[in-house]
Amino acid sequence: MTQKLSNPRGTADILPDQVPAWEQLETTARNLLKTYGYREIRTPIFEEVGLFKRSLGETAEVVNKQLLEVRGQRSEVRGEEEKETSFALRPEGTAPVVRAYNQNSLERQEGLSKLFYIASMFRGERPQKGRLRQFHQIGAEAIGYMAKSEYLDAEMIALAVRLLKSFGVEGFTLKINSLGFAEDKKHFAEWLREVLKDKIGHLSDECKNQYERNVFRLLDSKDKDCRAVINGLDIGSRHLSKGGQEYFDNVRRLLDKLGVAYEVSNQLVRGLDYYTHTVFEITSEGLGAQDAIGAGGRYNGLIEQLGGGDRRMEGEVGAVGFALGMERILLALEAQGKTAEGKGAIDVFVVKDDKYQDEAFLLLDALRQNGIAADMFFGPKAFKQQFVRANQLNAKYVLILAEEEARNQTVGIKDMQRGDQETVPTGKVVEELRKRLHSGS
Ligand code: HAM
Repeated sequence: MTQKLSNPRGTADILPDQVPAWEQLETTARNLLKTYGYREIRTPIFEEVGLFKRSLGETAEVVNKQLLEVRGQRSEVRGEEEKETSFALRPEGTAPVVRAYNQNSLERQEGLSKLFYIASMFRGERPQKGRLRQFHQIGAEAIGYMAKSEYLDAEMIALAVRLLKSFGVEGFTLKINSLGFAEDKKHFAEWLREVLKDKIGHLSDECKNQYERNVFRLLDSKDKDCRAVINGLDIGSRHLSKGGQEYFDNVRRLLDKLGVAYEVSNQLVRGLDYYTHTVFEITSEGLGAQDAIGAGGRYNGLIEQLGGGDRRMEGEVGAVGFALGMERILLALEAQGKTAEGKGAIDVFVVKDDKYQDEAFLLLDALRQNGIAADMFFGPKAFKQQFVRANQLNAKYVLILAEEEARNQTVGIKDMQRGDQETVPTGKVVEELRKRLHSGS
């Protein structure tokens, strides 16, 4: 026998029994996001590598270690110099959404674009529980000249928290911080470099490298010695200018008013370069090392950095967003015994005498044409086995077409939950079923 093939490591098949739990997340998310005025956007699953380098930063792990590159394609435009473009599967949704926003000049169409996505992302990470190479995010991004308001930071954070609550996730912690304006962020990096200058010597090469290339990376380093040094720093919010501090205070004030519980964490900087002002992360208990179920923040300036913006407008385009990891949400729900697993239910299973296959086949078709989910066995089968199949499919009703029913032009309707059975004329069966399914009895 030839060997069975397996899926690539770090990916997962979502089997039919698991799909209801995913559908529940997706439906809840879509409804809530629409309540907040977000509209869905779908972008390609791969983009030019340059997009991710320019937005997430060359030193971000997601870019320098984890990009899953797709074989390049030669440009075929005649007269143009042939060049090979490198593509990568998207590791996150923000950069592609900004690319699409810019390319389609959405800033000319609306002052504020509120966009969401429910989509697969790809990162070549070492797989472990809660860390996959293909995973799924529910993300929201608000972009536009009208997006530079503290109210939107607060709304975005509250929305992420509400989504988690409406999925049924409990016991999560929201941490927030502010990086301030781009200038403040620069001062923060300078200050960090200065206070770490004498301490970096005895740390690992990886830490030294991070110190040189992007000092913020040290703040979320997993290296034990590095952590000890970072934990010993009195970081505070000294890097924030007066305006930066005011902005952050306002976001906090609004979160307080909305009753959203949070902790301020001065070490929270996030691993992607594009953030300014508010950054946040939500972690869930009981998930082990990969406990971040969602994260986000403000990224004013990224739109211009990727070639967008309207020159006639003053100032930069504002933006804020977040993404929640669906696999981790499902793990958290599972840990709390709350996943909607299930086989789903079919409305009707048709059980027939072998002689009346054609009649049963037509009845099945009539049911389906009337929006009733129905199935049957094709081919001869004993009654008992047909009932076993009806149970497997969780059928609410079984229609019975045996000798006597066929002779009298009737059909038996068996209510699988209550166990009782009734006979109705064939011409009335759709109507009767609709009535029963509608009333839920
Ligand atoms: P991120 O923190 O890189 O942010 O990812 C957001 C969430 O995606 C994480 O909190 C986690 O739940 C999930 N996630 C990330 N990597 C994996 C993985 N390998 N396996 C399973 N789940 C994973 C972003 O992606 C930003 N684009 C968020 C954002 C939107 N910021 C502004 N707008």
